[in-house]
Formats: sequence, C-alpha cells, structure tokens
Amino acid sequence: MKLSDADHWEPETALARLALAGQDLASHRAFWDRAAEVDAIRSIADQESDQSFESSGVVDAEAVRPFLPADGAFLEIGCGIGRVLQHLASMCREVHGLDISAEMIKRGEERLRHLPNVHLWHGNGYDLEPFGDERFDVVYCGFVFQHLPKTTVYNYLLETYRVLKPEGVFRFQVPNILQNDQFHAFTHFAQPYFVHHPYPMHFYTSVEIVQLTTKAGFWVEELTSDIVVRARKREQAGVASAIAEGGNLSLLLEGDNLFRLQERDRQLRERNRLLEERLERILRNPVMRTGILLRNGLRRVRGASRRVQ
Ligand SMILES: C[S@@+](CC[C@H](N)C(=O)[O-])C[C@H]1O[C@@H](n2cnc3c(N)ncnc32)[C@H](O)[C@@H]1O
Repeated sequence: MKLSDADHWEPETALARLALAGQDLASHRAFWDRAAEVDAIRSIADQESDQSFESSGVVDAEAVRPFLPADGAFLEIGCGIGRVLQHLASMCREVHGLDISAEMIKRGEERLRHLPNVHLWHGNGYDLEPFGDERFDVVYCGFVFQHLPKTTVYNYLLETYRVLKPEGVFRFQVPNILQNDQFHAFTHFAQPYFVHHPYPMHFYTSVEIVQLTTKAGFWVEELTSDIVVRARKREQAGVASAIAEGGNLSLLLEGDNLFRLQERDRQLRERNRLLEERLERILRNPVMRTGILLRNGLRRVRGASRRVQ
C-alpha cells in the first residue's frame, strides 16, 4: 500500500487546521497570533478544562523555586498567556515573560494585571533584546523550543547565557525523538496533511541538545530522559560527569575542550574516592584507633579537672 493510498488524519477543529504560511519569522508570528485568537488555552496546553489550565503551571513553577532567591528576577521565553508566570509572582521580586505573539501578550496582560511584579514583553522572536546583561537569576522555557527552527533555539541559548547572572540557571525542555511516546507524536506530524499544511514542530536527541547548550557556554548539570535540561552559567562550559557517563555524549567532538573537562572531572572524582578510602584505612588502623581513644580520654580528664577547680 502506498502512503498516499491510506486514510489519513484530517483536522476537525479550527485550531488543528492552523498551519505555517512560510518559514520566515513573520509567518511564525502570524501562526501564534492566530492560535491565540482561535483558542489561546488549548493552543498552549492540551487541557481538559480552563480550570486545569490554571493549575497546570504550578509544577513548572515549583521546579525552578529552589534556584530562585526571594529578591531574585525570573524570565520566561515564550510565556504565552502566563500559565506558568502567574505562579512565580509570589516567589520572587520580579517576573518577566517574553513572547513572539502580540495577541498572546495582550491576553496575558489582561489575565495577570492583578500581579504588579509581572511584566510582559512582545519580543522579536529570536533574541532577548529588551534585557541587559546579567539581569536574571533563573530563565525558563517550556513547550516553545520545539516550535522554533534549531538555529533560533541556539540564538535564544546564547542570549539566555548573556542575560543570566553568574551561576544563574536555565531550565528548558524539548521532545526526545528517541523516546517511543514522543516518536509517536513525531509520526503524527509525518502524515501527508502536514506536508501540505506545515506545523512548526521539531524533535531532538540528548546529544544535539548538549551540543547546542554547551556551545552556547553553559554547564549542563541535569538532563532527564525526556530532555528537561538544567544548565548553569559558569565560566567553563561542560557536562556534569553523571550525565556524560549515562549517555552517549562521547559522540561530541573528541579533543574538544568539553570532552577534556569531562575527563578531568572524572579523574578528580576518582582521586577523591581513593583519598577517602585511604583516610578510612588510616582511621581503622589499631595504632591510630588507640591514639584517638587516648586523646579523647585525655580531653575528658582535662575537662573534669577544670570543673573541679
Ligand atoms: C505552546 S505555547 C507555550 C506557552 C508557555 N510556555 C506555557 O507553557 O504556558 C508556545 C508559545 O511560544 C511562543 N513562541 C513561539 N515562537 C516563539 C519565538 N520564536 N519566540 C518567542 N516566543 C515564541 C508562542 O507565541 C506561544 O505563546
């Protein structure tokens, strides 16, 4: 059977019929403006009710809380109508959201106008131009990068590195094509309908994401199997050894600085382990143990004689 013979999926709703008119920035902007007009809530998250949409952002907000000081500043890239931002307002001093769509921003401003420390920005779709260097403690981006060309994602990574304070955290997520459930989503977009009506959707592997994130300057300190990334702004780019050992990241250029750093980190951890073992052995030595017992006994005797005086 040819692919063109099969009965294929046809969209039933106006939202599902949305398509990119072209690959340029203006087409992406028009796509998201139209999505906001047709059904902002369901274009953002696949929600059963408007109520569950409101509470669904709590999980994302709580995930960044440990890295956000109470007097800190937070930024979300691709904030939509503020599903996540609304839960950040009570956690820190300043909350900012930026989005390519003026329609999303307009609806977000209406929804969140009771929160005076939340500020929304209509962005140009590829950088963080409104913000100065080293401005934020935490930057977050969820359910956005999958819709952008990979080159634009890289621009945002570079820009995020710029606007983060030293040791600041960037948490973001992209779909993993190597995971079966997400591969299933990929096959949905492979259907002939989407050849004629392109939907902006991109899938990644962990190796690709580590390459982009570290090349933008970050230290990758957490990477889950469904590609939720926690990256930190450090002086050196690199990958935590626990991640490097778990994945196939040696696919990344050997001889690259990154690879050497990772190896150095592994050697230091090994040296540390050997030192701890040696210390343990010394403390177990009978002569050493007798010495420690004698010293403790002497201290007790001295303490008692001081109390008598
Ligand atoms: C699926 S929604 C997610 C919204 C929000 N992150 C959330 O989880 O509630 C994707 C959002 O990304 C925005 N977006 C798409 N392309 C963008 C770009 N190049 N720059 C900034 N925002 C973009 C869209 O306008 C839309 O609001």
